[in-house]
Amino acid sequence: MPARVLVLFAHPALQKSRVNRHLATAARQVPGVTFHDLYEVYPDFQIDVPREQEQLLAHDVIVFQHPFYWYSAPALLKEWLDLVLEYGFAYGPTGTRLQGKSLLSAITTGGSAHAYTREGHNHFTMRELLAPFEQTARLCGMTWLDPFVIHHASRLGEATSLSPHIARYTQVLANLRDGQPAPASVTPPSIAKP
Ligand SMILES: Cc1cc2nc3c(=O)[nH]c(=O)nc-3n(C[C@H](O)[C@H](O)[C@H](O)COP(=O)(O)O)c2cc1C
Repeated sequence: MPARVLVLFAHPALQKSRVNRHLATAARQVPGVTFHDLYEVYPDFQIDVPREQEQLLAHDVIVFQHPFYWYSAPALLKEWLDLVLEYGFAYGPTGTRLQGKSLLSAITTGGSAHAYTREGHNHFTMRELLAPFEQTARLCGMTWLDPFVIHHASRLGEATSLSPHIARYTQVLANLRDGQPAPASVTPPSIAKP
């Protein structure tokens, strides 16, 4: 039985996007994957909480896809977390509805891979900076998957440089659907930028 994969996509300026736009187009085409564009559905930030909770219950794997903004997510995804992951639903003694599901962060950064090392100018690793998401998953009884990260997004954008990343992302989504372990989440050396 394939896993039901839900991509929650958050990008406030899709018309300016160079990378997520293409990743989103590709993700929409992966069979068995539900693609949900939060800024498209809730441009006024009026999130339909029961609808979002129902959608979560109907899926096994949740993917947060977004550009990295101030070491975190765009505001609407934070609002979504604040409203949808309610006490008694997602956490607390009776809040067990998300238990057993998995969470994957799929993120693009402006900074290079080196910038996200101890010696780099962001000092912390992606894994460290994503600790609030990891712990959110844990608190809800979800499995936190190794994040999928595309660094140096501003350097990409031409079809040639983007295509390996798009292929890797669709493969990750298909693997999640098929219950196979996700491939290495860091940028492979062959396409890594300094
Ligand atoms: C408001 C804002 C905050 C940002 N914060 C970060 C950041 O903390 N770290 C980083 O590496 N890039 C940051 N960036 C760069 C974006 O992550 C980058 O432009 C984006 O991932 C590119 O994807 P896109 O082409 O789909 O927009 C920021 C950009 C904006 C507009």
